[in-house]
Amino acid sequence: KKGNYDHFMQKEIHEQPHSLTTTMRGRLKNNGVVLGGLKAHLKTIRHSRRIIFIGCGTSYNAALAARPLIEELSGIPVTMEIASDLLDRQGPIYRDATAVFVSQSGETADTLLALEYALKCGALCVGITNTVGSTLARKTHCGVHINAGCEIGVASTKAYTSQIIVMTMMALAIGADRTSSQTRSEAIAKNLSGLPGKVSEVLKLDNEMKDLAVSLIDTQSLLIFGRGYNYATAMEGALKVKEVALMHSEGLLAGEMKHGPLALVDETLPVIVIATRDDCFSKQQSVIQQLQARKGRLIIMCSEGDTSNVCPNESCRFIEVPQVEDCLQPVINIIPLQLLAYHLTVLRGHDVDQPRNLAKSVTTQ
Ligand code: UD1
Ligand code: BG6
Repeated sequence: KKGNYDHFMQKEIHEQPHSLTTTMRGRLKNNGVVLGGLKAHLKTIRHSRRIIFIGCGTSYNAALAARPLIEELSGIPVTMEIASDLLDRQGPIYRDATAVFVSQSGETADTLLALEYALKCGALCVGITNTVGSTLARKTHCGVHINAGCEIGVASTKAYTSQIIVMTMMALAIGADRTSSQTRSEAIAKNLSGLPGKVSEVLKLDNEMKDLAVSLIDTQSLLIFGRGYNYATAMEGALKVKEVALMHSEGLLAGEMKHGPLALVDETLPVIVIATRDDCFSKQQSVIQQLQARKGRLIIMCSEGDTSNVCPNESCRFIEVPQVEDCLQPVINIIPLQLLAYHLTVLRGHDVDQPRNLAKSVTTQ
């Protein structure tokens, strides 16, 4: 069922305008959001002292992308947990917390064990999954199905963007009783309906990303710097490159650059910097200047038409993407990186849909 595509990963990347549409279907109403699976529990969530996101791999990264907006619209502190690490530490969870479990398959062993643990601790447990009837969907108190359609490629692509959108809608639903953020929430809700169209636009970068992959085919390593909403984009872009293209790649918080990673920068190591427009823009401009001062081999992801503002001389390569509301930008920005990882994998002759040593669903610890 790959249709006109060579691989499932390729199909699933290009399917995203459609999968995002089905994720939002029936859930956007009069500039607001209705999530049937959360409605009865919103009051409890709003009264929680902490929201904890728990997941593994790409699902964890999706939660990382949504975290800033959940904090902004709910005013509740949000902490992040890799499921295995929470279990290793047996980190304290109190009854007044909301634990949100994110899992495409709903069957990842560590995530399910962390769920059992949080249930025992007495927290409200919320699931976000693509799989109706999965263990996660059955054992959580409530939740939201992401409705992205079946995902076959081991590397998660369309589930990632749908997970972000579900958590964005969750932020809107939790924050709906706060008048202070009404204008902001309405702007986001309005932008959500136009998002699939913007995703179609960014998918037109396919050939450009193939060219970029050709230029990177023999490199050993790739760094990706992001911050704010796009810290997650850096992490997820690097995860895609390492898991399918089998190339060492690291996602890094740009704010940490001077605390170690800068030592790696030279004329040969490719560095992607995500510098699309948001409140962190000027900080990213200064990161770019510092990387240029070290003669870094820069590839800059910026908003369309913004190249001269991010890099005044001609020494950088650019990935120009459409600008959307800041909290939705991670959905746009990950797509060129998914395409890059895909083309790098094909060019390097590796298995796209079944990467070496990996499984779609890790059901053992
Ligand atoms: C539901 C129906 C959908 C229908 C719509 C119409 C299902 C699966 N969904 O969608 O077909 O078109 O009503 O109003 O029948 N849940 C969990 N844990 C999870 C995920 C979900 O407990 O991890 C629970 C939810 O709390 C909810 C139920 O599963 O009770 C369905 O969730 P979801 O499909 O997201 O709800 P709707 O979007 O309302
Ligand atoms: C595996 C997959 O490692 O599990 C990843 O290869 C995925 O793509 C991770 O992100 C977590 O899976 P799930 O189903 O819990 O989201």
